[in-house]
Amino acid sequence: MSDHANPAELAKFTDEDLHLLEQARAEFAGAGSPAALEAARIKYLGRKAGLVQSRFENLKEAPKEDRARLGKSANALRKAVEAALADAQAREVVGLADGDQAKAKPDLTLPGRRAETGHRHVLSRTVELLVDVAATLGFSVAEGPEVELEANNFDALNIPLEHPSYDPFDTFYIETAPGEPKRVLRSHTSPVQVRAMKERAPEPLRVVAPGRTYRPDKVDATHYHTFHQLEGLAVDEDITFLDLKHTLDLFAKGVFGAETVTRFRPSYFPFTEPSAEVDVSCPFCARDGGACPVCKATGWLEILGCGMVHPKVLTNGGYDPERFTGFAFGMGIERIAMLRHGIRDIRLFIDPERGNDLRFLEQF
Ligand code: DAH
Repeated sequence: MSDHANPAELAKFTDEDLHLLEQARAEFAGAGSPAALEAARIKYLGRKAGLVQSRFENLKEAPKEDRARLGKSANALRKAVEAALADAQAREVVGLADGDQAKAKPDLTLPGRRAETGHRHVLSRTVELLVDVAATLGFSVAEGPEVELEANNFDALNIPLEHPSYDPFDTFYIETAPGEPKRVLRSHTSPVQVRAMKERAPEPLRVVAPGRTYRPDKVDATHYHTFHQLEGLAVDEDITFLDLKHTLDLFAKGVFGAETVTRFRPSYFPFTEPSAEVDVSCPFCARDGGACPVCKATGWLEILGCGMVHPKVLTNGGYDPERFTGFAFGMGIERIAMLRHGIRDIRLFIDPERGNDLRFLEQF
């Protein structure tokens, strides 16, 4: 109920009633104590001798033709005075003098309100960990676009046209106008290698590139169409396979713990030669195998692919392969997070139906 009734409301009152209403409001608002307010209540709304009640008594003596109008006004008056009283009582409860918010007295007996505090997503924290460990080994962060030139995603990395990943069933293609260079949603972070080399050549280079990658895979507990990778690349004048092994061994120890042991298995990637896959000793079963469900009792967990940068890729990046060598590596960030935290289903990270759930995310 506002203190200033609108004109339509005022029209309902006789002058006398309006005057009484204003008087009541002023007294209610000015009552300095609960006792004073109660006294004012009795004065105006008292059943027997209240001033509002007296208006109804007066009706009996009024000329017949005026009774309806006076009755309406008296009814409106009672309502308005009751509302003004309720208003004044409410203000009294919170300790507000009329129009004075600053004097509000907080109720110290109310329970406190818990402030929700958020924290970074488990994938962001994993990226931060990987980038931090890489930084201790001399790597800085490089970036590239998620919508990438087909040429950077494949050709510059020495991936031949007949390679299965070129297939639209294995890569999301972006519609481009005829004559425009073709673009894809990058299917790995390796194209950032090309961008970083072109930017830096012929200076030596040590970068890691974390980021989102996309593949039209069938979604299951270990595959999702949108995922993240971390790429690594070092190019310099006399980098050898030993640098690769030593760097990745230290990297694995930084991520999985100082007792971690690494194992390199020969492999194949078009952009590295020779290539290897790296396993870390299973941090959950201390290499004894047993019945560990994480490493399936093998004692080892595969975590990344790597190799010495192919001379053609060095050339495409602007380095002379006669003078420069380099190594590269790439890993799935979800996989690292899943291994570190014992997460069984990749969909828990960002899938709108199965994941992105605070009950899951708050654990990390
Ligand atoms: N790009 C590869 C993939 O997505 C991973 C990879 C393997 C990256 C070997 C590398 C590498 O840099 O040397 O499967």
